[in-house]
Amino acid sequence: MTDIEFSPEQHKTWAELYRRQVPKIRQHASALYLEGFDRLDLPSEQVPTLDHLNSKIPDATGWTVVRTDVRFTEADDWYRFFDRREFLITNYIRSWEELDWTPEPDMFHDIFGHLPYFMLPEYAELQEMFAPAYLATSVEEEKENIKRLAWYSTEFGMISEAGSLKVFGTGLMSGGDEFTNAAEGELEYEPFTLDNVLGKDKVMYEQHDHLYVIESLDQCKEEVAKYFDPIIERGGGLPVADGRS
Ligand SMILES: [Fe+2]
Repeated sequence: MTDIEFSPEQHKTWAELYRRQVPKIRQHASALYLEGFDRLDLPSEQVPTLDHLNSKIPDATGWTVVRTDVRFTEADDWYRFFDRREFLITNYIRSWEELDWTPEPDMFHDIFGHLPYFMLPEYAELQEMFAPAYLATSVEEEKENIKRLAWYSTEFGMISEAGSLKVFGTGLMSGGDEFTNAAEGELEYEPFTLDNVLGKDKVMYEQHDHLYVIESLDQCKEEVAKYFDPIIERGGGLPVADGRS
């Protein structure tokens, strides 16, 4: 697949975001993320090429990185790619004015936030739990709950590591102020459990004041499995007659 060319301004935006964020992640990110970050070895001065990403990730976990010119992929499509272990990265990168925070996921989020984790088989296992459950249901409320569980764990979760609160979520890894506020204990924190997260609306167009903390990857997997397993066992994505489970 041929890769696209990015402009000097886009490379400059990447380099500035990278320069700002690396000291913060070194101090506050989960050890899991940092392990993946070191293995992925992203370039600091320019947008990474697909060749670079796909020379590392498929060998590590079997996932492949796919570029898209769609700025925001709808969840149904997103999970179909996920089901094939394909991770979409958008061609869009935030403007210079939005360096500190953008509500819209851009390529810096997709690459810097998410992809280091795809160097770790134990993390890929967690990510691979979501699509089968999402695609197995046609109940809108269940789909929303699956998206919420992803949002408050892989996207905006915190993790407790050796008694310290560390940043886990990919949406925080790629964000400026929000990362700092989350990392420095400025927000409200609750355990990541089904009881706490189900029914809780996603916060999408402003920064979070409330986040959830996983104890470990295994605890997160166990928690989401409690919700996903009955959906998958019920089976097949068959329409549910009255729209309820
Ligand atoms: Fe994301």
